[in-house]
Amino acid sequence: MPKWGWLSGLFTWKKSANARGASRVAAAAETPSETAYNNTLQQKKKKPIISVEQEGNARVLKVVAICGSLRKASCNSGLIRAAIEIAKESIPDMEIELVDISNLPFLNTDLEVDGRFPDAVESFRKRFLDADCVLFSTPEYNYSVTAPVKNAIDWASRSPNVMAGKPAAIMSVAGSLGGARAQYHLRQIGVYLDLHFINKPELFVNGYQSPQKFDEDGNLIDKAIRERVKKLLLALQEFSIELLN
Ligand SMILES: Cc1cc2nc3c(=O)[nH]c(=O)nc-3n(C[C@H](O)[C@H](O)[C@H](O)COP(=O)(O)O)c2cc1C
Repeated sequence: MPKWGWLSGLFTWKKSANARGASRVAAAAETPSETAYNNTLQQKKKKPIISVEQEGNARVLKVVAICGSLRKASCNSGLIRAAIEIAKESIPDMEIELVDISNLPFLNTDLEVDGRFPDAVESFRKRFLDADCVLFSTPEYNYSVTAPVKNAIDWASRSPNVMAGKPAAIMSVAGSLGGARAQYHLRQIGVYLDLHFINKPELFVNGYQSPQKFDEDGNLIDKAIRERVKKLLLALQEFSIELLN
């Protein structure tokens, strides 16, 4: 019996409930966005995500990364760059892609015309939809997540919600608490959106504490934090395989 076999009955029920929901959507007139959403879901069902227990007809775990800071020398984007390197070097079944959110317009539902979003939003939502899970790295601004990351989430949440059911993990570089308050706000937002955040390990980085952890371009130079990023990625991978297969 597979390691997670005892959960299979529950997943079968959950999958068929999702299928019932999807067919109700299909029965009504689909918007272009809903058609793309349903097609991608069908494609994904064909191949399981790779795991140590599987061989052959499997695929790698695709992670979409979102950075909450738009600064050129952002330390949070440095954390994501480090995560991308780590995955390439030592987590062969994981691919991480950073998605630029700086070109997204402020959310305004007047910009949605005949079931289509502005081009930048369509392409952002497509990349989210194609991914298996999400990696956030965000600073804390005034005790919460930043406006750019909230704006990106709001666009992704528009029907059909392209984040629904995805596993997710959070990292943050901020002031004294390392972004803890922003992370817990993000977890709260994720409740309504059906994002499934891993609980541990938590990764909060105080960017102002010496010794310096990032260089002037925002690149991570601290080996201990690099190791913690790797542990977070491995936990996200394990949880995703468990949740999505
Ligand atoms: C508008 C604004 C508000 C901020 N509020 C907080 C805050 O509430 N808590 C905190 O820890 N840091 C706060 N900071 C500091 C940033 O989180 C910190 O500089 C972070 O490292 C910037 O990330 P980045 O290098 O990725 O841009 C604030 C910064 C700005 C610009």
